[in-house]
Amino acid sequence: MNDTRNQKESLDTSEYIQIMERLLYVVQELSAARDLDTVMDIVRHSVRDLTGSDGATFVLRENDFCYYAEEDAISPLWKGNRFPLETCISGWVMLNRKPAIIEDIYVDSRIPIDAYKKTFVKSLATVPIKTNDPIGAIGCYWSERHIATPEQIKVLQVLADTAAIAMENIHYQNVIATKAKQLEEAIDGTLLTIAKMVEQKDLYTAGHQKRVAMLGLAISKEMGWPQERCESVFRAGVVHDIGKIGIPGELLSKPTKLTTLEFSLIKTHSEAGYTILKDVPLLLPTAQIILQHHERFNGSGYPYGLKNDETLPEAQILAVADVFESMISHRPYRPALGMDAAIEELVMNKGILYHPDIVEIIVHLVKNKGYTIPE
Ligand SMILES: [Fe+2]
Repeated sequence: MNDTRNQKESLDTSEYIQIMERLLYVVQELSAARDLDTVMDIVRHSVRDLTGSDGATFVLRENDFCYYAEEDAISPLWKGNRFPLETCISGWVMLNRKPAIIEDIYVDSRIPIDAYKKTFVKSLATVPIKTNDPIGAIGCYWSERHIATPEQIKVLQVLADTAAIAMENIHYQNVIATKAKQLEEAIDGTLLTIAKMVEQKDLYTAGHQKRVAMLGLAISKEMGWPQERCESVFRAGVVHDIGKIGIPGELLSKPTKLTTLEFSLIKTHSEAGYTILKDVPLLLPTAQIILQHHERFNGSGYPYGLKNDETLPEAQILAVADVFESMISHRPYRPALGMDAAIEELVMNKGILYHPDIVEIIVHLVKNKGYTIPE
């Protein structure tokens, strides 16, 4: 009751609403923070702004020590130092799990007064970050004698509680990002190994998958796709012919024209690739792209004769990149056709076999950006 009465006495309604609005904004800012520096920066500025204090501290705990992680009031003196929790007021706040409100630091036994003599500080207020298991403390300083009001302490505690949640979120985001990266690297490593297994069998496609993947990546970047989507094109490109592992090697490197029967066997490789990868949930999108990489714009491709709008854009990219790369590479049944002939083929069948936008991007990459297929 007293707190409420004091609050009403010290703040009028419009001031109170202004502080609440500002506090709400800060809470939203903290929720969106993605790193500790941002959290500290927001807290440090908003503490001063919302309490009207002359300085603010952001102290973090490290086992039995604490340190001034972010400090604009007295940083040159203390920054980088580690203090035992028992020797400083932030440590006291953390050990006792409650705020400290000190009107005159020179008469309070909890203050290591020698450390403060060189500072402007006369009064301070500090609250723990995460009260039930403190991980730090947030404080504010005044250069004139001042006793922190209940609402100033409440504001400090709201900021500390929100900072605690923000820091926890950042921690878990970092853990998740690290795990996701490790998983992605493991998947990419596995796919590369599988790609090499296929290429051991079919020397003529050695490097073909990687080159198609790189061209697919360049095309998808040119389309302005987000990084993650571009990477999915690259990933599928690296293993797009994985299904050839089930086809006899003699057939894959046959120097003469394939019979209809032999070609129908080769054509099973896109479905076979899908079958190999589809049961790994993380690889299902890759499997679906592989399944469609021989479909054509007008529906004349295989295995299902799907038309452009029935296929994945990622598969459409790889379809054109695959044809283009194959034409400028040597094959057992023909020499390399060369860049000009490859471009001519794409342009001739633009909007028929190949998606016109993708053809245009390849032409643009080659003619205007000097793109060459890597060795
Ligand atoms: Fe293929």
